[in-house]
Formats: sequence, C-alpha cells, structure tokens
Amino acid sequence: MENRSQWGTRIGFLLAAIGSAVGLGNIWRFPATAFENGGGAFFVPYLFALLTAGIPLLIMEYTIGHKFRSSSPRSFAKISKGMEWIGWWQVFISFVISTYYPIIIAWSLMYAYFSFGTKWGNDPTGFFVGDYLNLADAGTFGSFVPSVLLPLILVWILVFFFLGRGVKKGIEFANRIFIPTLFIVFFIIVIRAVTLPGAVEGLNAFFEPDWSRILDGSVWVAAYGQIFFSLSIAFAIMITYSSYLPRKSDITNNAFITGFANSSFELLAGIGVFAALGFMAQQSGVSVSEVVQGGVGLAFMVFPEIISQMPGSTFFGLLFFASLFLAGLSSMISISETYIAGIQEKFSISRGTAVLIGGGLAFVVSLFYANQGGLNLLDTVDHFINNYGVALAGLFEVVAIAWFARELKNLQIHADSVSDIKLGVWWRFCLSIITPVILGCMMLLNLKNELS
Ligand code: PFF
Ligand code: NA
Repeated sequence: MENRSQWGTRIGFLLAAIGSAVGLGNIWRFPATAFENGGGAFFVPYLFALLTAGIPLLIMEYTIGHKFRSSSPRSFAKISKGMEWIGWWQVFISFVISTYYPIIIAWSLMYAYFSFGTKWGNDPTGFFVGDYLNLADAGTFGSFVPSVLLPLILVWILVFFFLGRGVKKGIEFANRIFIPTLFIVFFIIVIRAVTLPGAVEGLNAFFEPDWSRILDGSVWVAAYGQIFFSLSIAFAIMITYSSYLPRKSDITNNAFITGFANSSFELLAGIGVFAALGFMAQQSGVSVSEVVQGGVGLAFMVFPEIISQMPGSTFFGLLFFASLFLAGLSSMISISETYIAGIQEKFSISRGTAVLIGGGLAFVVSLFYANQGGLNLLDTVDHFINNYGVALAGLFEVVAIAWFARELKNLQIHADSVSDIKLGVWWRFCLSIITPVILGCMMLLNLKNELS
C-alpha cells in the first residue's frame, strides 16, 4: 500500500470539511427554506434533524473514511464486496454536480466584476436573462454564450490547480485562505445588511414563528433535506476527506465542530439575507414576503437590485459575489476530489492523471451549460440531483451499513477508540431507524409532488 496523502494539521482538515459544507446551500437555500417552512418555528425540526441525522451521519462518514483510509467506492468495497456500487453512485452524483456547479461560480466571478459601476443597471433580471445569458432570443438549444466561457475556464484552472497539487499543498492550502476570508467578508456584509433601513422588518419576517406548521410532515422533510444537503452528506465527500486524516485524530469532536460551524454560517446567512430583503421591501413599498426568493434568482436578480440601492454598492457587490465565489469554489474542490480519489484508486493511476481525466471530462460536460438553454438544463439537473440523487445515496448508505453489513457496532468501536466523546446506543438508533425512515419519507413525498 502506497503512503496515503494526509492533512498537515487538524485545523487544515476542519477548514476543508467546513469549506465543503459551507456553500450555496447556506447562502441561498437555507434562508428561503426556513422562511417557507414556518420561519422561527422551523428551528425546532432543523435542530432535531441536525442532532438526529446530520451529526450522526457525519460521524459515520468520518469513521468510514478514517477506518478504511480509502475513497468512497473502495471503502464500501472493504465493508462488503457487493457494496462498492454505493460508493460509485455517490461518486456519480458528485460528478454530475461538478459539471454545473462551476457555472454558478463563474457567474459569481463575472458579477463581482459587474459590481464595478453596477453594470446590471436598473433591471437586473432583464440583464441576467436578457443581456448576460441572452435567453431572450434563445432557440430550443440556443447558441453558445461566450460571456460565460472566460470565467468558466478561470474557475476550472483554479480547480485543476488546487486538486493537482494534492491534499495538503492544494486542498488544505486553498481552504486555509478561502474559509477565513469568507467568514470575515461575509460578516462585514451581514453587519452592513442589519444596519440598513427596513432590516428589522426583514428579520421579523424571518424569525416570526408559524407554529401551526410544526406538525406538518413536509416541514420536517424540508428540515432533514436542508441538513443533508448542507452538510455535504452522502456525496462521498466527507468519506474522502476523512480518509486523509492521520491515524490519531478525534472523529466525534470534529463532526460536532463541522456541524455547528456550518449551521452557524447558515443562521448568519439567514440574518443577512432577510435584513437585505427587508431593506428592499421597504424601498419598493411592498411586504417582505413578496420579495423572498432563493437560488439563482436571489443571487443574480434580487441581490444586484438590493446592492444597487445601497450606499457603497460597488464595494458591497464585490464582497457579496466574492463570498459566493469562495463558498462555491471550496465546495467545488471537495466534490471533484471524490471522483479524482475514486478513479485514482480504481485504476491505480497518479493524482495528476486522475485530475486530467476526471476533471477534463467534467470540464467538457460543463460547456453544455454555457449556451442559451443552459439555465433550464441546470435547473432540471439540479432538481433531480437534489430530490432523488442525494436522498437515494443517503438511503442506500445507511441501510447497507446499518442493516445489511451490520457494521455500525464495529464503526462505533473504531470511533470510540480515537475520540473524546464516546458514542452510545442513541447513535446507532438514529442511523438504523430515524434516518432511513426520514429518507424514505423524503423520497415518497418528492415523488408525490412530482406526480401531482
Ligand atoms: N454543502 C454544500 C452546500 O451547502 O452548499 C453542498 C454542496 C454542493 C457541496 C455542491 C459540494 C458541492 F460541490
Ligand atoms: Na452547507
């Protein structure tokens, strides 16, 4: 067995794991999801999901990586030969995400540049879909949109660079710079946002609890969905990252730190986004609920409008899009590493070759989104990945490990042998009962919504 690459320091691993977790899910998914699912009341199912599924699964993935010191497919193969495909399924999901995620990072880069003189003008929506994406005169498949190409290539160069340099000099190095910068920059934006006129109304709208929703099953499913996506669970990421941990590393503690850091960032983002939405609602004389949005619309249509209306718009535009860029890039690096590690091990090739083949393929596929139909394609793919891909991967993972391989007890012994916090029967209960039931419900609910 060759000498496996390792993280240089514990904090290096933590920053990389937090870098993966903190992404667009925190900034543009959490605030709108919380608002639509009971506002302040959402925090009850959300915390419950964090403690009964998020952190327990994170502990499980860290333990698998640490124990088997392999990529996700090989780790599963080591548990049971017939389970290798579960790892490949996760790797496949990650690969698909890594073909469209860089488009969003490229837009962020472009919009950081557009912040100079707020180039999106008075009609940011028209600018985004009309001028920038040229959707106005798109045919069914549209033609190539050259404006995305340059930033997209820049993003890929960075991804190739950091992945090519390896775990310590590439991934750890990048996150050591990106994550502290991201937290500082984002904090400045939040401070600015909460001091804008109208911010209080925005925050009231966000935190106002609608307790009538608390018994609604779909609210609970939304909470678990947010936690899974947000913690990068079932993407093969956390298994891959923890496979580079030195032998003597605490597992449970690291999982709690990652989980709470991610949720803190999410809460901070909710506060910042809703303060800004409150400001915008006040400027336009409408209620906050009328301007709430998530996803691409929030980042590239609503936020440019807010930024234009505030004093110091170029500066704050730059900070906001730099945050999206840093949060996105660190997640992108993590998700690409899963298949780099997977094929590197499977075909016994060097890291460099694996980066060129895996990354090269993802790069070529990503070009398909750089045309006028790209936004719709991106939306559709993202929808299926989020509603089925990740939930299915999570379901396969826990059922296989808890029920088929009956491996939880062994994993618990392994985790306990290196960790300060010892796992109890609650941990096995969460993973063998609660998580599979919730993931099953999630699949059924999403299917039902699809069909109705
Ligand atoms: N945990 C990420 C987030 O909350 O945004 C989810 C993610 C998406 C991770 C895409 C990695 C990735 F490439
Ligand atoms: Na996240």
